[in-house]
Amino acid sequence: MCIIHRQQWLPMVSLATPLLGGHINEYPSTNLIMQDAEFQYLSQLAFRESGIVINESKRDMLYGRVMKRIRYLKLTGFTAYCQLLQDSYSGELSAFINAITTNLTAFFREEYHFDFLHNVALADFKHHNQDKKLRIWSAGCSTGQEPYSIAMSVQGQLPDWDSKILATDLDSEVLWRAHQGTYDELMGIPMHYRTQYCSDMNLQHRYSMDDKIKQLIAFKQLNLLSRWPMKGQFDAIFCRNVLIYFDDETKRKLVQRFYSQLKPGGYLFIGHSESLQSFNTKFKLVGQTIYQR
Ligand SMILES: C[S@@+](CC[C@H](N)C(=O)[O-])C[C@H]1O[C@@H](n2cnc3c(N)ncnc32)[C@H](O)[C@@H]1O
Repeated sequence: MCIIHRQQWLPMVSLATPLLGGHINEYPSTNLIMQDAEFQYLSQLAFRESGIVINESKRDMLYGRVMKRIRYLKLTGFTAYCQLLQDSYSGELSAFINAITTNLTAFFREEYHFDFLHNVALADFKHHNQDKKLRIWSAGCSTGQEPYSIAMSVQGQLPDWDSKILATDLDSEVLWRAHQGTYDELMGIPMHYRTQYCSDMNLQHRYSMDDKIKQLIAFKQLNLLSRWPMKGQFDAIFCRNVLIYFDDETKRKLVQRFYSQLKPGGYLFIGHSESLQSFNTKFKLVGQTIYQR
């Protein structure tokens, strides 16, 4: 896989027009209070650029995350931070988006998905994919534990297949870490995979994914709300614990797009607290938060 430089993922989108009609000078001066207008501005910006809904109940979360940026940048407060965001040359928009994403993940998270992948889906592909080709998309891959878990499962069962896993996220920082493929701990990875596919880097508590596993995965920055450049369809899509941050309209549209992006018979895996029940889809429920086209 080619070397990807960190800067390639930054900055991502430029903000040409201020959201509040250019009334930036109306922001109150220096303080560490987030005014209502600033909260509105930041939450609308987050929604417009990422689909992430930040309502009143998440005000403290937004405050904490933006405060970290303010301190890091040594700014005087929220007013200055909002002004910086409106300067399209500052590159801060990308850092703001990175700051507001929630990246919690784990190896083999929601183990029943990996049991299903192992016992049902891969067996199904073995039977149907005569060309021995497998395409899987981890959409919202965070720091990489999800695509690496998929890759270990695939490599373990279909070692001689032409398998490729596309792993995408909006957040350039987590994507960079995912691409590195090094971790402080391997919790969740079954022992037989650890011994086969993970190496101790001779540093205390630092482990690396083996090249055999890394080369199955292509990491790319992709905003799920934007156009998807992928031409082919997938055998399976994992979009777990991502939809939860969006409103119903965004979820409904995404689920429809996932349907079209899957091969007939392909599987969609969503997060444990997510459901397609309220959307009118053609997906069949075939397991716990697992759907089939
Ligand atoms: C909680 S993590 C889930 C990670 C992994 N799928 C799992 O279940 O362990 C959610 C991820 O979705 C990403 N995300 C949020 N909004 C996104 C968007 N509009 N496009 C792409 N990724 C997005 C975040 O950056 C974050 O890494």
